[in-house]
Formats: sequence, C-alpha cells, structure tokens
Amino acid sequence: MSYRKQLFTYTNISKIITIHYIYCLFHGKLEGSGLELIGLLMKEHRLIEKIGTPIETELKYILHQNKVHTSFIYDAIDFFRTYVDRFHHGKEENILFLELKKKELEPMHHQILTELEEEHKIARRTVEKIYIDIDRWRNGDNQALTSISVNLKKLIELYPGHIEKEDKHFFFPCQNYFTREEREKILQAGYNFNQEFTYINYKDRINTLLEYK
Ligand SMILES: [Fe+2]
Ligand SMILES: [Fe+2]
Repeated sequence: MSYRKQLFTYTNISKIITIHYIYCLFHGKLEGSGLELIGLLMKEHRLIEKIGTPIETELKYILHQNKVHTSFIYDAIDFFRTYVDRFHHGKEENILFLELKKKELEPMHHQILTELEEEHKIARRTVEKIYIDIDRWRNGDNQALTSISVNLKKLIELYPGHIEKEDKHFFFPCQNYFTREEREKILQAGYNFNQEFTYINYKDRINTLLEYK
C-alpha cells in the first residue's frame, strides 16, 4: 500500500484525531484563553485540505484504468464520515453554529451560516452516494464508476470553497458576537467534544478487541 493510501487508513485516522486532541489540550493548558475554538477548527481545515491530492490521483486512475482502488475509496469514505463530518462538522454544528443561532446575527452572517449548513448536508449526501456506488461496482455494475468519479470530484470541489468561506468570511467576524467568557466556554466545549469523541471511538474499538475469541 502506498504512503498516500496508508495516511487514510482507519487506524491512522484515529491516530490523527488523538494527536490533534492531545495537541489542543496541551496548547490550551499552556496558553489558557489565548486559544479559540475557531483556531482548532482552522487547524482541522489544514488536514481536510490534504485529501484533495490523493483523490485527484485516484480520479486519474479511474479515468485511465477504468477501475477503482476499492480500499482507498473505503478509507476516504471513513475519513469524510469520521474526521470531517462527525469530528469537525460535529464541533461546528453542535457548538459554534448552535451558539451563534442564539445571537441576533447580521443578515449576511445568517446567510453564510445557512449556506455552510447546507454544504455540510451536500457533502454528507455525496459521501453516502459514493458508499452506495462502490458497493454497486464491487457487485459488477460498471456504470457505478462514472457516478463514483462525479461524486469524488464534487467533494474536492466543494471543500476548498467551503473552507475559505469559513476561514476568511465567517469565523473571525463571528467572534464579535461572543464575549471573552463565552469564547472560553465554547473552546472548553470543543475540548470536551474532542475528549468524548476519542473516548467513544476507542471504547467501541477496545470492546471489539477484547471480545475477540
Ligand atoms: Fe464547515
Ligand atoms: Fe470547517
């Protein structure tokens, strides 16, 4: 398995999440209120951006070979479901967006928030389509390959714009809706979310391992 594929194996995604969590916890303790939830989210964006290159490579492979690396697609699906959606969108939607909805937002920020939520839904639906199509392809349906390509392309075209919107047009102005205490509270909620996420993830896996006969 090539290095780029190894990067997105299930085990590695768990490791990435844990390293992120430890990093954030460590920096949070060192810098106290200096760190913000949006800082954690923007750091996660830098990792999400990296998925574009291996997916482009896979798209070329599909185009030239008329077949697909099934294991790579499953790993990419897991990356989008686990890291991007549950871990990253989870903090955005359940902490940042939720708290912002309690504020009286300017129409422009309200509009962006609606767009961001819609883009999360589009990404979720696109990943699930790929999941269905890879199953179709494994069962001999060659037509599924075109759909896999279209949806992989859709994902890598969606994220750069989505991330730019959050990083450059939303996160910073939205800080102004919160007091310093509120920002510290949502940062703490982000740490708690990460801790719980890691705990739940590992608890299930440890249980599976211990129940092995
Ligand atoms: Fe987002
Ligand atoms: Fe994001």
